[in-house]
Amino acid sequence: MNESVFRRPVRLTEGRTIVRQLTLDDAEALVEIVRAEPEILPKPLHGVTDAEALAHWLTVSAPNGQRHGVAVHLAIADAETDTLIGFIGLFRVDAIHDSCEVGYALRRSTRGRGHATEALRLTCDWALDDCGLHRIELRTLTDNVASMRVAEKSGFRREGVQRGAGRHEDLIMFSRLATDTAPAGPVRLVGVGVGPGDPELVTAKAVRLLQEADVVLVPVLEPDEPGRAESVVREYTAKAERVVFALNDRGGVTEKRAAAWDAAAARVLDAFGKGARTVVFATIGDPNVYSTFTYLAQGVLAGRPDVVVETVPGITAMQDLAARSGTVLAEGTESVSLVPLTAGPDGFREALASGDTVVAYKFGSKAAEVVEALKDAGRLDDAVYGARLGLPGEAVAPAAAIDGPVPYLSTLIVPGRRTSRGGKL
Ligand SMILES: C[S@@+](CC[C@H](N)C(=O)[O-])C[C@H]1O[C@@H](n2cnc3c(N)ncnc32)[C@H](O)[C@@H]1O
Repeated sequence: MNESVFRRPVRLTEGRTIVRQLTLDDAEALVEIVRAEPEILPKPLHGVTDAEALAHWLTVSAPNGQRHGVAVHLAIADAETDTLIGFIGLFRVDAIHDSCEVGYALRRSTRGRGHATEALRLTCDWALDDCGLHRIELRTLTDNVASMRVAEKSGFRREGVQRGAGRHEDLIMFSRLATDTAPAGPVRLVGVGVGPGDPELVTAKAVRLLQEADVVLVPVLEPDEPGRAESVVREYTAKAERVVFALNDRGGVTEKRAAAWDAAAARVLDAFGKGARTVVFATIGDPNVYSTFTYLAQGVLAGRPDVVVETVPGITAMQDLAARSGTVLAEGTESVSLVPLTAGPDGFREALASGDTVVAYKFGSKAAEVVEALKDAGRLDDAVYGARLGLPGEAVAPAAAIDGPVPYLSTLIVPGRRTSRGGKL
């Protein structure tokens, strides 16, 4: 550590933010902060309200720590006005290990404008690049998502949980080293839709993510059986890892299902813990349409609220069936109802009564009920169904040809009743 640089006055600027020495000119803003938000003050000022003591801290105590090379308390100021809006400090400075800890706080009214990220980055760049420190630690409470994002945007990497370290509460330890390369950015869980089965029905964005991700997970029924999404994913990357999901378990949130969701979330968290920055979970069709991804994302966020969850849309089975069967899904003022038969036949029957387009999903074992409802509505002859679209054993046929149970991967389209060109406009 270069102590002589550490002791010199600091003034750093980036974007809207200045990090600089505290001066007597900050007294007015400091008094305002003491009155309005005393909780954001640095520890040495806790409980201090006397003007003389505040002035002493600004001009003597704060500079003294820096002069002795043990701590530095700096002002965060707004670049437009140079007014004090918060504090940033390096403390527990250890000249043997060249390490320290950083802490900061901003006035409530100035949060959310990037000042925290800019101040943290400026201060840490100075400490690591100019003062020769090697390691800076930053600790946040486990639910302080805003601070975690600021830390990651400023190049800090998450190390793990320190149990009971902050007044008995768990803290998350982040660190930045002088040898770290570019800021790592937040960790991401991305649900990527890979279409119903045909590898050509995968978006360019999905392919890029499958190839760039650190870890790619695919849901399977059994560990030694390839999954439906997996066969598509393998066309683009060899790094697909199987996660067992109770995909075919029926009857709500069964114990088996919940355990599978938890285990899958733990697997993702473990990948992040081992340094993965982007974990992709590939899902058949679209990740926002009846997908296991929803439950996985909730489990992951419960364990790590700082994870950024994103999705990449995929082509749904109904779109694929529309294309393969030459069926128009919607015209003019028609609506499209997507009905899962696992909810029972009533919703399907009600939708059929509207005369508009109805799509049925999840009706493999209930094909007879579906045919019965179509007959009752007088719409059997218009309906088309497709099984295992884009996969081996694909079938596309009129619904009237159904005579018994069909595969779980079956979709049905009952197009709206149309009598003339543009008649539904
Ligand atoms: C759990 S949902 C998944 C839906 C999927 N996320 C989507 O966007 O299409 C499963 C249902 O989707 C439909 N499905 C998915 N893939 C299919 C395929 N390859 N062929 C026919 N239907 C399919 C079936 O109705 C199946 O019961």
